[in-house]
Amino acid sequence: MDDSSEDQRLPHRLDPNQPCPAAVLHSLGVRVWALDADAYADGDPRLAAIRKARGYSYEDCVTITPEALPGYEDKIRSFYQEHLHTDEEIRYILDGSGYFDVRDLEDRWVRIWCRKGALLVIPEGIYHRFTLDTSNHVKALRLFVGVPVWTPHNRPAEDVPSRAKYLASVADTAVGAAA
Ligand code: LAC
Ligand code: NI
Repeated sequence: MDDSSEDQRLPHRLDPNQPCPAAVLHSLGVRVWALDADAYADGDPRLAAIRKARGYSYEDCVTITPEALPGYEDKIRSFYQEHLHTDEEIRYILDGSGYFDVRDLEDRWVRIWCRKGALLVIPEGIYHRFTLDTSNHVKALRLFVGVPVWTPHNRPAEDVPSRAKYLASVADTAVGAAA
């Protein structure tokens, strides 16, 4: 994405656009699936299979709109502070959309537009942030292994053990930089 300080809700594509190949996202430890969000209410077997394989035992649902989210402005600001977690961050977009930005191995921002049906896993220890897009609305399931810990460790968080663990994990899988 570009580094302009314009509204964070805009796409911020580079000009010309520089798409990030799926293999690069994969090498960063990011996982994405496109599911049918309308199947969620009926116990979507594809979601169930992913939850089982990855051990996601916890779930809750958050709606981010000015009306639905207490402390909306503060939360929007903190979501967009570059941070990491000591666990995976797993989000399944049931409605609306938003941008998850992750840092690549050269410390560039890669913007991932997640729309209804996107299931995204952001690995432990990667620097990232989130913003709504101009639709100003997202409804997302938050999944977790065990008892959830949502604590963000704002950058710099080099002393958090998850950071070194992440860097070691990507050192083995790195592929070439985005074309
Ligand atoms: C979170 C997103 C905003 O930590 O990254 O909830
Ligand atoms: Ni986060």
